[in-house]
Amino acid sequence: MKTVVITGSARGLGFEMAKVFRENNLNIVLSDLNSDNLKKAREELLNIKANGIVEYKVCDVTKTSDIKELIEFVENKFNKIDIWINNAGVNQPDKEIWELEEKDIDTILDVDLKGTIMSSKLAIKSMIKNNGGAIYNVEGYGSNDAKMLGLSIYGTSKRAITYFTEALALECEEKNTNIIVGKLSPGIMITDFITNALGNKEKIELPEKTKKVYNILGDYPDVVAKFLVNGILTNTKNNAKIEWLTNKKAAWRFMTAGFNKRNFFN
Ligand SMILES: NC(=O)c1ccc[n+]([C@@H]2O[C@H](COP(=O)([O-])OP(=O)(O)OC[C@H]3O[C@@H](n4cnc5c(N)ncnc54)[C@H](O)[C@@H]3O)[C@@H](O)[C@H]2O)c1
Repeated sequence: MKTVVITGSARGLGFEMAKVFRENNLNIVLSDLNSDNLKKAREELLNIKANGIVEYKVCDVTKTSDIKELIEFVENKFNKIDIWINNAGVNQPDKEIWELEEKDIDTILDVDLKGTIMSSKLAIKSMIKNNGGAIYNVEGYGSNDAKMLGLSIYGTSKRAITYFTEALALECEEKNTNIIVGKLSPGIMITDFITNALGNKEKIELPEKTKKVYNILGDYPDVVAKFLVNGILTNTKNNAKIEWLTNKKAAWRFMTAGFNKRNFFN
């Protein structure tokens, strides 16, 4: 039975992916910042009838010691990590670069970029020891080089995640590690993330124009999670990109927007 570890999985996409893995009978290790939230998430997962084991461990991905402890926890409990998903992320306050506080810039880069780098580095060491595994990193706005006011530092992180993931995939291949590395591209999801910056620290007021676009292109995270997890479970290739909102799908959504009755913001 395979074991999957997902960072930032007490809510949102991470939690929804955990549910789908559970439905597929994998062992799951949830991890996030807050143990009460993790406990609740675990209980919810256990309500799904399936065969795997569900555990949780607090892990702040900005703390190397937490990541190491999470890995040790998984190794002790399950011997090895089969799939590791770097999902933890924070949004940025809706501000221009020069209006952002340095500490907030640090938080975004530390969670969204360095958290993924350090988690990958340490999880891969464990996977090399155990002769294989898979790592997936979550892309986001900016990964494809798009730019928008108020998302500059987040976009910087996600653009870098794309480069980092491809570089890591290359290194894993050239060193014959038997580890595959891939990107998950979830598009736009209606989660707490879109209205909360820096975790839950600061509210984001979405302009009407943005809400309109989200109503066309957005989806609830359970829909996206199903697609991404099925992609992960069937993927055998290194450097894969599992993409929910392709250009083709986005174009179709805009073309059919007149028939779209979705309103996520009522
Ligand atoms: N919501 C979207 O539209 C969207 C679009 C593209 C990509 N993404 C990406 O998808 C991922 C999940 O986003 P979501 O929408 O589910 O967000 P979310 O805010 O619902 O969930 C993020 C989770 O990460 C956790 N987290 C925050 N800082 C952490 C830290 N230092 N250590 C460990 N966990 C931490 C939070 O506690 C939370 O549970 C993120 O990487 C995000 O950048 C989101």
